[in-house]
Amino acid sequence: MQKLIKWVDDRLPIVDAFENHMSKYYAPKNFNVWYIFGVLSMLVLVNQLLTGIWLTMSYNPTSEGAFASVEYIMRDVEYGWLLRYLHSTGASAFFLVIYLHMFRGIMYGSYQKPRELIWIFGMTIYLVLMAEGFMGYLLPWGQMSYWGAQVIVNLFGAIPYIGDDLSLWIRGDYLISGVTLNRFFALHVVALPIVILALVVLHILALHTVGSNNPDGIEIKQNKDENGIPLDGIPFHPYYSVHDIVGIVVFLFVFCGVVFFFPEMGGYFLEKPNFEPANPLKTPDHIAPVWYFTPFYAMLRAIPDAFLGVVVMGGAIAILFVLPWLDRSPVKSIRYKGMFSKIALLLLIVSFVILGYLGVVVATPERTLLARILTAVYFGFFILMPWYSKIEKTKPVPKRVTG
Ligand code: HEM
Repeated sequence: MQKLIKWVDDRLPIVDAFENHMSKYYAPKNFNVWYIFGVLSMLVLVNQLLTGIWLTMSYNPTSEGAFASVEYIMRDVEYGWLLRYLHSTGASAFFLVIYLHMFRGIMYGSYQKPRELIWIFGMTIYLVLMAEGFMGYLLPWGQMSYWGAQVIVNLFGAIPYIGDDLSLWIRGDYLISGVTLNRFFALHVVALPIVILALVVLHILALHTVGSNNPDGIEIKQNKDENGIPLDGIPFHPYYSVHDIVGIVVFLFVFCGVVFFFPEMGGYFLEKPNFEPANPLKTPDHIAPVWYFTPFYAMLRAIPDAFLGVVVMGGAIAILFVLPWLDRSPVKSIRYKGMFSKIALLLLIVSFVILGYLGVVVATPERTLLARILTAVYFGFFILMPWYSKIEKTKPVPKRVTG
């Protein structure tokens, strides 16, 4: 075995890579439960890739065959129902895990210098993931697949001058059709997964170049022993590699519980109209995207002008990219930030969650008003950040990590 490892290592530096990224990668010793979601994102990504490959083996990407092929997978393919539920529940799990992962980053200031690139790669992953989820949802060719895609592709039509041509180009037809389905299939199954995988590699490489942040927001590399090892660091392997198994097992318990007992989650993970085949002549009474898009959908609906709505919705995502340059606080972690930052973060979460709810339900004048106020609150977190993060009184940050 030793000889084999040496033989390979002389030709490909696997030992070096293992040491750099695992056994000699020093991670802060004070990670808490919020630090599990990066690993869980990887786990869910692998689940999506594997179940997706097997679903593709029985799926038929044509407007005539798609819906029936999904029924065939559910009823006739051996364990097809399991593959499909793992994939459809996996999509929701992916977004849940990613939202918690992003929240952790915002809470502990992990986007701040020197981790701006980790954040930018993360945000790009998030953007591509949204495209991936959106295109995947067209594939079962149910009523919501069809009409959801119709609404979203039509949004591009609101862009002045190029809008109509652009939505025509995306659809490849004058309405959502088998042509659209076929290209969304290609993008969902081949192109976007490759991009996501490449971005995850860059995300981790950037992380391992500067090192992880931690709940105290202290740079552990500033306190090293005589051998150059951070005093507050522990080798990722075996300490965190073993420790993470606990989190993975807990996650899998909950995930399997949902897959086996509530795969549709009462219409939130698989919407009810999607059990009817797509019908271009019958618009469903109420069109709503899946839950992970609804905060942004609520913002879109809150704005009366179509183009402005698209700008606000796009802006809500785009503004996250520049977060590292909006935060002027001398400290990273919310633990040591002042009152303003704490209130702002709380308001961000409250507004995002309530907007998510408003995006699911039918719009009424009162709900639209509430959505407008919450959209303003959401943007307030970002736009006012250069001001409140600078003027507030912060707490002193300890030299060494706590707890
Ligand atoms: C497929 C999606 C993703 C995967 C597989 C992934 C994976 C990881 C892993 C394994 C870590 C190290 C462990 C940890 O700190 O939790 C990490 C850290 C980080 N990720 Fe992600 N990530 C993904 C998406 C994102 C997104 C969407 C964002 C934000 C927009 C993001 C921002 C960050 C930040 C800021 C860190 C450093 C955290 C710190 O050191 O405190 N990631 N990611």
